[in-house]
Amino acid sequence: MKHDLIEKNLGLMTLLMVLAVSIGGLTQIVPLFFQDVVNEPVAGMQPYTALQLEGRDVYIKEGCVGCHSQMIRPFRAETERYGHYSVAGESVWDHPFLWGSKRTGPDLARVGGRYSDEWHRVHLIDPRNVVPESKMPAYPWLVEKKLDGALTAKKMKVMRGFGIPYSDEDIGKAREAVEGRSELDALVAYLQVLGTAVENKR
Ligand code: HEC
Repeated sequence: MKHDLIEKNLGLMTLLMVLAVSIGGLTQIVPLFFQDVVNEPVAGMQPYTALQLEGRDVYIKEGCVGCHSQMIRPFRAETERYGHYSVAGESVWDHPFLWGSKRTGPDLARVGGRYSDEWHRVHLIDPRNVVPESKMPAYPWLVEKKLDGALTAKKMKVMRGFGIPYSDEDIGKAREAVEGRSELDALVAYLQVLGTAVENKR
C-alpha cells in the first residue's frame, strides 16, 4: 500500500506534512492580507486622542491584559453578555493589539460607556469599593502619578508611521493635552472609548 510507504519513511512523511500544512496555511492566511474587511478601520472610527493613547500605555504597563481580554467571540453566550462581537476593523490601529486570552475578569472590548468615569475611578482605586466580592487588584497609585507628556508626541508619530491618521496639529498639541493629568485620568479615558466605534446592540 502506498500509505505504508509514507508511514515507514520518516523523511517523506515530514516533507508531505510540511507541504500539507503550508498549503493549508497559505490559503487561510495570505488572502487576509488583501481583504479590506480586516485591513480597513470600521467606518467613522477615530484614532485614540493623546490622553487615550497614554491611557492605553498605562493599561499595558499595569498588566491589565493579563486578566482581561478585549475580544468578544461571535457566540451567543458572549454577545448576550458583552455586546456585538469584535470585528477586525476595530483593531487595525492597535499596535500592539490587546486581544489577550486570559479572562480572570470580564472582557473589556465594549466596556466604553457602560459605567461613568466616576465609577471607573472608584473601581480602579479599589475595586472592592463598588464590587465587594472583586478579586481585582487595587491601583491607588494611578491617582498620584502624573503624566509629563514628554514622549506623547513621539508616540503619536510612531503610530502615524503605522498608518494612523494623526495630523500635525494633533501631534503638536499632544503634550499640552496630557501634561499634568494623572495616569488614572488617562486610563479612564482609554477605557471609555473601548468598543465604541461599533454600534453596540445588546
Ligand atoms: C488579577 C486579575 C485582574 C487584573 C490584573 C485586573 N483586573 Fe480588572 N477585573 C478583574 C475581575 C475579577 C473583575 C470583576 C470584578 C470587578 O468588577 O471588580 C474585574 C473587573 C474590571 C472592570 C469592570 C468590567 C465590567 O464589565 O464590569 C474593569 C473596567 C476593569 N476590571 C479594568 C481593569 C484595568 C484597567 C486593569 C489594569 C489597571 C485591571 N482591570 C486589572 C480582575 C483583574
